[in-house]
Amino acid sequence: MKETVVSGIRSTGNLHLGNYFGAISNFLKMQHEYNCYFFIADYHSLTTHPTPSDLHANVRQVVAEYLACGLDPEVSTLYVQSDLPEIAELYLLLGMNAYVGELERCTSFKEKIRKQPDNINAGLLTYPVLMAADILIHRAVKVPVGKDQEQHLEMARTFGNRFNRLYHCELFPEPYAFNYGTQLVKIPGLDGSGKMGKSEGEGNAIFLYDEPEVIRKKVMRAVTDSGPTQPNQEKPEAIRNIFTLLEVVSSPDTVAHFNDAYNNMAIRYGDLKKQLAEDMIAFTAPIREKIREMLSDEARLSKVIRHGAEKARESAGKTVREARHAIGIRHF
Ligand code: TYM
Repeated sequence: MKETVVSGIRSTGNLHLGNYFGAISNFLKMQHEYNCYFFIADYHSLTTHPTPSDLHANVRQVVAEYLACGLDPEVSTLYVQSDLPEIAELYLLLGMNAYVGELERCTSFKEKIRKQPDNINAGLLTYPVLMAADILIHRAVKVPVGKDQEQHLEMARTFGNRFNRLYHCELFPEPYAFNYGTQLVKIPGLDGSGKMGKSEGEGNAIFLYDEPEVIRKKVMRAVTDSGPTQPNQEKPEAIRNIFTLLEVVSSPDTVAHFNDAYNNMAIRYGDLKKQLAEDMIAFTAPIREKIREMLSDEARLSKVIRHGAEKARESAGKTVREARHAIGIRHF
């Protein structure tokens, strides 16, 4: 039997190159090799209080982008998280065995406290419990995610193992973060530090749906420095980030060319950025075209999502029934 895979992306708007290279590029390969469940995490996005119309538009956009990237709803199961009430139930059950102390120590929670001090809601604290429910609901063993999700996977293992121990069962296998490469990926943003992310500030992320002009503008504004002062010197973080981006969208020859230029102190950042922008455009343009096509086909989007929910609920229902039984919940 094929191993089970689960992964999701929050519905906070358009997908960016970080989502693509951290997660989706793996989904595309995995769908042909594993029993895959891919979903849109709309419950998770509620922690930032989107308006109802934004929420729906964003979910729709991510469905269209999944399909445009090449996810095949005939081979993998594609669904919206909130279409599975079983996830909410498992989240509640797991929450009883998740301790406030361990949730407060979670890096992503600490980061959120810093970023949105006026909205530290309980959903943020229990975010890893909901994520564990997403994964454990299908008893997945592999979870294709970027490096930023590693700690959440560790917590999913903790909650699953704790449940098994507490209720003397072997309901949940251990899920591990997965990437086809040797390491989990962290795609940097254009602002000189950290990772590419939607909430990292204007111009930091390149979205799959960005128009060529927008991409050129963002890349030309990317943070650099005044250039190398010695041959073969180590690159500072901002420059390393630009090269990392180049490595994911450009040919090895292009990367080698600019590396040589950097090492010989002959590099012109303007040329480097122009090339990077054009290669990003070449990469995203066909996807953008397909996103447009998908967005205009309402009937297909709803068919895919309804079919996905049905398939996903079958597997989710089975897990929740077994979890309830293990806990001792009985029907009268
Ligand atoms: P989210 O929505 O922030 O990101 C979706 C996926 O994209 C990856 N990613 C990146 N990878 C590399 N470099 C980057 N700069 C970058 N930015 C984003 C993320 O690692 C992720 O794989 N909590 C999750 C969503 C989620 C989930 C799940 C994932 C909810 N339940 C169950 C897997 C399984 C999140 O916020 O990802």
